[in-house]
Amino acid sequence: MSKEGVADIPEGYVLGSYRIIKKLGKGGYSCVYLVSRIADAKKFAMKIEDSNAVKKAINNEMTILSMIDCSYFPRLIEIGETREFVFYTMPRLGISITDIRRKMPHKKFGADIFIPIAEETLKIIHVLHTLGFIHRDIKPSHFLLTPNYYQSPLCLIDFGFAKKHLNLSTGAPYPKTSDNRFTGTKKYASLHAHNGMNLGRCDDLISWFYMIVELATQAVPWAGVSSHDLISEHKQNISVSVLCFGLPKPFIDIYKYLCTLEYEDTPEYDLLFEYLEKAKHLTNVENTNATWESLRSYDNDL
Ligand SMILES: Nc1ncnc2c1ncn2[C@@H]1O[C@H](COP(=O)(O)OP(=O)(O)OP(=O)(O)O)[C@@H](O)[C@H]1O
Ligand SMILES: [Mg+2]
Repeated sequence: MSKEGVADIPEGYVLGSYRIIKKLGKGGYSCVYLVSRIADAKKFAMKIEDSNAVKKAINNEMTILSMIDCSYFPRLIEIGETREFVFYTMPRLGISITDIRRKMPHKKFGADIFIPIAEETLKIIHVLHTLGFIHRDIKPSHFLLTPNYYQSPLCLIDFGFAKKHLNLSTGAPYPKTSDNRFTGTKKYASLHAHNGMNLGRCDDLISWFYMIVELATQAVPWAGVSSHDLISEHKQNISVSVLCFGLPKPFIDIYKYLCTLEYEDTPEYDLLFEYLEKAKHLTNVENTNATWESLRSYDNDL
């Protein structure tokens, strides 16, 4: 077994009560496969990690998914373990926002799409925060399209880095810890993450903002840079007007507001939704079922 992650598993391989059909995605430590439940041939997605992996993100993920059981996040169907693998199954969802963006003519969305995406993804992050958790790896490949009978057109996946953040009996964040490892994905990480600081709700929102910039403009200004230090320097020095070039003006206000937030702060989600309303108004955009049906048409399996 490769030290970097799960080796490819062949079609037809049986894992617990499921049969592997094909790979849906692959990350640093795990793989996601389309599987068929042997008992009834129903299709699911299965996330699999090498049971010898040093860092078992999947255990954290399964624990958190069992605590945030609602339709904005994948429902945990079954967990299992063999000598080689730890795995869980969840409903099979659609393609990610990244996958759809790459199918666009200029690899970017117009305001008619990126503003509804900003609104829906912010709603989902808000729900997660209200449940007392932070995600710590917000990025467009972690928002997947859902079938049209779901409560939300998108679902947030991958809770490998997620963490309980709020003590719900007091409503306050847990005290900071001395754990200062980098957490997340370089391209979308906040400066707090680059600096190894404890992350809060504000850091999920900064990553959300970088994600929206990418969806609206094709690439964040530091796309293609691989050094942590250079990316961090870029994020530190970039002016609001350069970062938000081409975005409706309320996004400048959103970014300025997000930059004022610290670990303990409860973000003013209502204010952010108001800015998005203004952006919709300015650009004559509506977030309707038709918006999401148009995106679902890019997914042959939904
Ligand atoms: N429930 C699902 N239905 C369909 N596809 C899925 C599902 N879950 C994950 N995927 C696909 O697998 C990819 C990787 O999933 P995930 O992010 O959970 O794994 P990962 O190992 O953490 O990957 P990475 O390191 O790239 O974040 C997703 O971007 C998506 O394309
Ligand atoms: Mg992931």
